Amino acid sequence: MPTELILPLDVPTREAARPLLKQLEGTVPWMKVGLQMFTAFGTDWVREVADHGYQVFLDLKLHDIPNTVAKTVESLSTLPIHMLTIHTSGGHSMVVAACAAQRESKPDLQLLGVTVLTSINASELQGVGVPDSPATQVSRLAQMGHDAGLTGFVCSPLEVGALRRDLSAGVQLVTPGVRPVGADHGDQARVMTPADAARAGSTHIVVGRPITQAADPTAAAQAIIAELASA
Ligand code: C5P
Repeated sequence: MPTELILPLDVPTREAARPLLKQLEGTVPWMKVGLQMFTAFGTDWVREVADHGYQVFLDLKLHDIPNTVAKTVESLSTLPIHMLTIHTSGGHSMVVAACAAQRESKPDLQLLGVTVLTSINASELQGVGVPDSPATQVSRLAQMGHDAGLTGFVCSPLEVGALRRDLSAGVQLVTPGVRPVGADHGDQARVMTPADAARAGSTHIVVGRPITQAADPTAAAQAIIAELASA
């Protein structure tokens, strides 16, 4: 199965998002709704995105005590979503509780574990009491999350190879930090091309600005999808 494209709806208003939803319908299979839009426009917005035919990746990065995360997963299970993120750093019991709630309330929902945020460097990690390198901590949290029942993770394309080696074959790996050749990197420091991310083992890539800021977003998305198909 070719690596699939996810577009993050990183816009402040529904008015800014709606033309993109309309234009990319039938081309882009997935839309990512993050904290910004979910906080402002709530569950109705998730339903509106899904009504266009998109699969919705709800990126809320849940992190709380096990009972609260499990109940939140249960509450969200009434929504038309296909992916949802939790922080693996919430610990083994939290991940177990989240996975149990997901299996019980929405078996077709793919829970994804976030390991170390890419904004965290070695010195920030030390500041929260972790003396290891970010790469070591990513592997540790992914292994722990996998042991606790997670079958998918969000990671940098540069971490995909290690996670592919360490975790079971069917694991879903969703990677932002992807840029087509020649595209502006924006604030993404360490990037891979769509084809390289696919070859490394990403099952999904998240690409935003190279599509949303293109003169022709549909053509930009189609070019990325073609690159993924031929990788
Ligand atoms: O526009 P761009 O392609 O950089 O968007 C990437 C998306 O992926 C944004 O929504 C960003 O917040 C998200 N993301 C990321 N790096 C991570 C996790 C999420 O770029 N490590």
